[in-house]
Amino acid sequence: MNVGIIGCGNIAPVYFNSHKFYNNFKVTACADIVHEVAKKSAKKHNVKAQTVEEILLNDDISLIINLTVPSSHKEIIMRSLEAGKHCYSEKPLAINFKDGLAINNLAKEKKLIVGCAPDTFLGGAGQKAREIIDSSEIGNIVLGTFNLMSHGMEHWHPNPDFFFKPGAGPVFDVGVYYITQLVNLLGSVERIISVSGTATEERIITSKPNYGKKIKVETPTTLMGVMEFTNKSKVQLFASWDVWKHKHSTIELYGLNGSIVLPDPNYFGGELLLSNKDSDWQKINTDSMLLGTPNSEDNNAMVANYRGIGLSDMIDSIKKNIQPRCSIDLALHVLEIMEGILISSINESIYKITTHCDRPESLNEEEIRSLKV
Ligand SMILES: NC(=O)c1ccc[n+]([C@@H]2O[C@H](COP(=O)([O-])OP(=O)(O)OC[C@H]3O[C@@H](n4cnc5c(N)ncnc54)[C@H](O)[C@@H]3O)[C@@H](O)[C@H]2O)c1
Repeated sequence: MNVGIIGCGNIAPVYFNSHKFYNNFKVTACADIVHEVAKKSAKKHNVKAQTVEEILLNDDISLIINLTVPSSHKEIIMRSLEAGKHCYSEKPLAINFKDGLAINNLAKEKKLIVGCAPDTFLGGAGQKAREIIDSSEIGNIVLGTFNLMSHGMEHWHPNPDFFFKPGAGPVFDVGVYYITQLVNLLGSVERIISVSGTATEERIITSKPNYGKKIKVETPTTLMGVMEFTNKSKVQLFASWDVWKHKHSTIELYGLNGSIVLPDPNYFGGELLLSNKDSDWQKINTDSMLLGTPNSEDNNAMVANYRGIGLSDMIDSIKKNIQPRCSIDLALHVLEIMEGILISSINESIYKITTHCDRPESLNEEEIRSLKV
């Protein structure tokens, strides 16, 4: 399938290169609201630069990859659908649940498919954890924690303003990886209770090229709470960009017969820890898995980054007329959870989730092999 990219910023090179990993799509054109940016990317990746209007009218392209900032996600997804194209969007699906519902309605009306990142849960670590949990090795999961804490994004991203605006913040921007992983492992969420805070109303950019510029913070930078899943497991969450250093692990799940610790769900691979009852931790390495092998450098460490598997799986599922793993049902449910975390903290009351989604099908090595170049 020929696909076009809209939004040629920081993450775009990963998608421009993803057709080198996966065999069922090819990026042939790109666009950006800033046409010069699209032209530069097009030249670098040997594709056609078009305006947003032109790419939407391009008959050679059946699917748009939406890599714009979160506040533009709804607009670009809706315009893609109106133009008769499927759309795979970077996360989050939209900046609020209402917009997510509008996207879902239009996709159904147009009989077109919308898929959404993150697809990291399809990586070696997520799938290995899923296998362990489904094998009942540690019994039913009853409790858990997820911790994502750092001091924000303004020290590395070239245009970090959007991280501190509605539709971003630590839950919408990074928590989305954790929540999607947890839905992959435990299923739907039913209820949420949370509190929120903002340590400083202003952030100062220390990355280039906007060094010294101030950002007005317009969404909470800390959220803490508890999510209760339909299966009654309870997971405590702590998502913050107000912490310099900490010693928590990312996701820990506690079953009736043991515990499992997952690596950072922002990546595809990493090491899991598994313990039966009170036995010592057993290390489970995912380096030899097809989507677990470290293949790129991040913060001076080699990590597994196979972004694009969600898109490749979606294209495959369009062909087979089945539900993609990174489905709109999953993205909409995760979007409602993220908004629910915010709303619960504002209303000082429990938020009851209205959407439900089944766990995405697990992804085995054979299926991955069939999609790989
Ligand atoms: N940067 C990362 O490491 C990373 C990782 C994973 C996911 N993401 C997600 O990818 C998306 C893009 O992030 P980024 O870091 O590349 O942002 P970015 O700001 O670097 O790039 C976004 C690009 O989209 C363009 N754009 C914005 N609105 C547009 C519109 N209406 N029409 C056409 N073009 C438009 C901008 O001009 C810009 O070039 C976000 O949703 C983000 O959450 C980013």
